[in-house]
Amino acid sequence: MKILAMNKIIEETTIDVCESVDNAVVIYTTRQMAAQIGFNEAQQFLIATAASELSTNIIRYAKKGFVILRTISKNHDSRGIEIIAKDNGSGIEDIDRAMQEHFSTGNSLGLGLPSVKRIMDEFFIESSPENGTLVIAKKWR
Ligand SMILES: Nc1ncnc2c1ncn2[C@@H]1O[C@H](COP(=O)(O)OP(=O)(O)O)[C@@H](O)[C@H]1O
Ligand SMILES: [Mg+2]
Repeated sequence: MKILAMNKIIEETTIDVCESVDNAVVIYTTRQMAAQIGFNEAQQFLIATAASELSTNIIRYAKKGFVILRTISKNHDSRGIEIIAKDNGSGIEDIDRAMQEHFSTGNSLGLGLPSVKRIMDEFFIESSPENGTLVIAKKWR
């Protein structure tokens, strides 16, 4: 699996997630940061949705973890949003299946991870029983 390139970090904030109200903080903060670097309202909504799918998964499947939100830049003035979601839960058994639409072990829609990948421009996922789950996703303006 491709490792994403490092980008210059302009701003960074970490949100611990363990209960559903934390999703609201993730959504609000993501929207704010996306607005700040010039994403339109529809894009802000989509990026915030991607972030909240990841924080929802942390709460549901790993109980707790954190989300790092970054504004990043590359090639001088190209700006973007980076979402890093990390937990130390028991991991995803079969990532290929988890990335398929409508696969869920939680009796829900199973659209979370596929939509994050679709919404964002870059997507990386790594998961193991020892180290839990790490998702990194970036969206360029
Ligand atoms: N952070 C996580 N830790 C462990 N398993 C996860 C995590 N995130 C996702 N999964 C697994 O991947 C599956 C697919 O996730 P997702 O696409 O968000 O759909 P849903 O949450 O509706 O099941 C989940 O059902 C779960 O089995
Ligand atoms: Mg989900």
